[in-house]
Amino acid sequence: MSNQRLPGKKAVITGGTTGIGFETARRFLEEGAEVLITGRSDDKVASAVAELGEGAHGIAADASTFEGVKKLAVKAKATFGMVDILFANAGNGVFIAIDDVSEESFDHQFDLNVKGVFFTVQQFLPLLGKGASIVLNASSVQAKGMATGSLYFATKAAVRSFARSFAAELAPAGIRVNSVSPGLVPTQFFANSNVGAESYGGFEALIGSSAPLARPGTPLEIANAVLFLASDEASYMTATDVVVDGGWSNV
Ligand SMILES: NC(=O)c1ccc[n+]([C@@H]2O[C@H](COP(=O)([O-])OP(=O)(O)OC[C@H]3O[C@@H](n4cnc5c(N)ncnc54)[C@H](OP(=O)(O)O)[C@@H]3O)[C@@H](O)[C@H]2O)c1
Repeated sequence: MSNQRLPGKKAVITGGTTGIGFETARRFLEEGAEVLITGRSDDKVASAVAELGEGAHGIAADASTFEGVKKLAVKAKATFGMVDILFANAGNGVFIAIDDVSEESFDHQFDLNVKGVFFTVQQFLPLLGKGASIVLNASSVQAKGMATGSLYFATKAAVRSFARSFAAELAPAGIRVNSVSPGLVPTQFFANSNVGAESYGGFEALIGSSAPLARPGTPLEIANAVLFLASDEASYMTATDVVVDGGWSNV
């Protein structure tokens, strides 16, 4: 008998080229799953798939557009038929004072982090059967507030909310839906956002002084929580949020 935790499972991870998504793909593969990852560019997806090795598949698909989401669902159907695990992870963050928010920056943030997550789940429903698990990547900021955080924090509150209603609606189909809420994790997220080195240092100082574990987390520490939620070990968990933030948001 296999000691692996996801033997033969078919998993889709949006945004799996770097950071939390990449590390989750790596852990899923170690546990016996096949994984389909996405990103924005063919090059980055191809090099991540090559690094992940056997059992990894990829496609460039823009998670912020309905067209990109549909493209991914078509690819998943062609690659796997049915899907056991969906990790809606692709996201980014911008930190902007209220006065400086433009319609474009508002749409950019909500299109990827909110619209993309909603339609990813919607478009995968025909591929998800009884026993499937959906995990949404929220954030430990989802119940917090911060100057310049109004857009990003609100998108993550929406993601947390989606997990609650999706769980209620999809339980009769035997599908569990949960969210994971990472705390501060140094990844490409910060290079891809408008957070400069100075502001990132500020985030680190905040965690250092206010989180019980007083340090940032690692992608592996988040991936292990996603693995648990995705696996049958979490068979009695739905609609819930697993916070992996060194205690920051709960003290
Ligand atoms: N890092 C943190 O401190 C932290 C904390 C809480 C929550 N989170 C959440 O964790 C998730 C992953 O972030 P991360 O920290 O791992 O950052 P990351 O390393 O920048 O990973 C983001 C992933 O999303 C992909 N992506 C970005 N825009 C996309 C788009 N339009 N379409 C498809 N894929 C897209 C990126 O791929 P390409 O760059 O190759 O396009 C990359 O694979 C995000 O939802 C983020 O909000 C992060």
